[in-house]
Parts: sequence; C-alpha cells; structure tokens
Amino acid sequence: MTQATLSNSESLNRRYGLTKRSDRWWVEPLLTGGGLLTFVIYSSVSALLGHSWAFETEHELYLSPFFEPLITPEFLPMWFSPALLILWAPLGFRTTCYYYRRTYYRAYFLSPPACAVREPAGSYNGEGKFPLIIQNSHRYFMYVAVVFVPILWLGAIKSFYLPGEGIGIGVGSIIMTLNAFFLMMYTIGCHSLRHWVAGGINSFSNTPLRRIRRKAWEVFTVANERHKAWAWTSLIWVGVTDLYIHLVASGVVTDINTFTGPI
Ligand code: FES
Repeated sequence: MTQATLSNSESLNRRYGLTKRSDRWWVEPLLTGGGLLTFVIYSSVSALLGHSWAFETEHELYLSPFFEPLITPEFLPMWFSPALLILWAPLGFRTTCYYYRRTYYRAYFLSPPACAVREPAGSYNGEGKFPLIIQNSHRYFMYVAVVFVPILWLGAIKSFYLPGEGIGIGVGSIIMTLNAFFLMMYTIGCHSLRHWVAGGINSFSNTPLRRIRRKAWEVFTVANERHKAWAWTSLIWVGVTDLYIHLVASGVVTDINTFTGPI
C-alpha cells in the first residue's frame, strides 16, 4: 500500500460519525440533549422571574423547590430572585454528576456521540487537565446537596398543614412529596456519596461505625443502581413541581385540596 493510500485510509477512519453500528445510535444523545436543554431554559426563566411568579402563594403552603430554602435578606433588591442564592448548589451537583457528564459530553461535545462511533476530536486528555478537572468538584457539591434533602422533605411535610386550619392534603402536597422522594433517591444514589460512606474500605469488620456504614452503603447502592433513572425522574419532576406551584400561585390552576380556605 502506498503512502498516499495509507493516509487516505487513515483520514477515512477518522471521519466523524464513522461506525459499524446499524441501530439508531443518535436517538439517545438527541433526546437527552434536547431534554437537558429544555430543562436549563425552563429553570433559568423560572428562577430569574422569581418574585413575580414562583413562590407567592397566599400562605406559602406550596413553595417551589427552586426557592427552597427561601432566603430573602433585607439588602436584596426587589429585582433579584432569591432562587439565585441557592440554585448554584443543585446546579453544580447536577452539572458535575457522572451520569450527566456522560450525557452532555455525548450530546453537546460529541465526545463520543455514542459507543463505537467516531468522534470529531483527534485526541483525548480526559478530565485531568483544565478546564475539565473542575468536574472533580462534584464531591464538594455533594456535601451541600445532601443538606437539601431534609430541607425539601420539610417543605413537603409543611405543605400538609395550613395555619388556622390544621392538617390537610392537596394535589400540591402530593407533588411536593414525590419531588422530595425523587430528589432523595437521586442524591443518595450519587457515586461520590456511596464512596464517601463506604468506599476505600478493605474490611468492614475493622472499620469504625461498620454496621451503620454497611447499612447505608447497602441502601445507597439500591439507588445507585438506577442512578440514570433517578436523575431523569427527579429532573423532570422538579420542573413539574415548580410549574404546578407557579400555575396555582398565579391563579391559572385551582389546587384540589381538603383545605377550606384559600391558599
Ligand atoms: S454521580 Fe450523579 S449525583 Fe453524584
């Protein structure tokens, strides 16, 4: 084979999208990329429009998860959405998540677009250099994200109680409870959390708090095995929860509930 034929064949082998796969490998990156983009646009609009349309139910019975916990210091100008004070944490947690990394590397950077499909980049430096080394911050975002789990549960539990009326239940309470549950399953299924709880242990029998750590590891593993499913379920549901609360708060939808007074 001549040199010219060799380089022709090499450049053919490097052609983007080259694959022997005959299935529709492009469907998954297309759907996941579109889904993530939709969520980013929706959540940005919802968070930025904060004061006017996300959390102002009359008794704050339902508070959007984008605003939980609600922090409104005096010095905050009216135009500044309180969601921006807290959203960096769940956002950083999600964007550095191992599953989402795989998803957007494939969908947006085509690196690679799917298994066994040629990618456009000629070389690969991994995540060991700037800027992708920043992805290692995931474990630190995880420490913050676990705090949001009890906070969201507290918000969900509070939605079953209306001051002056007592305990009740509404469609919003059910939606918020499911939201807390889905986010909990996504968070406890985090690879970093699972490793933090019981990773790097050669022998449980010689480890302090071994029973607790072993039990936590077993529970977290159940969620970890379906991390992708929990990632999508929790992402979609947090958007649904925010949208529902917005629609109730703005009067477009009437919440069906057992409370007799207005919410
Ligand atoms: S790996 Fe997905 S949340 Fe940590």
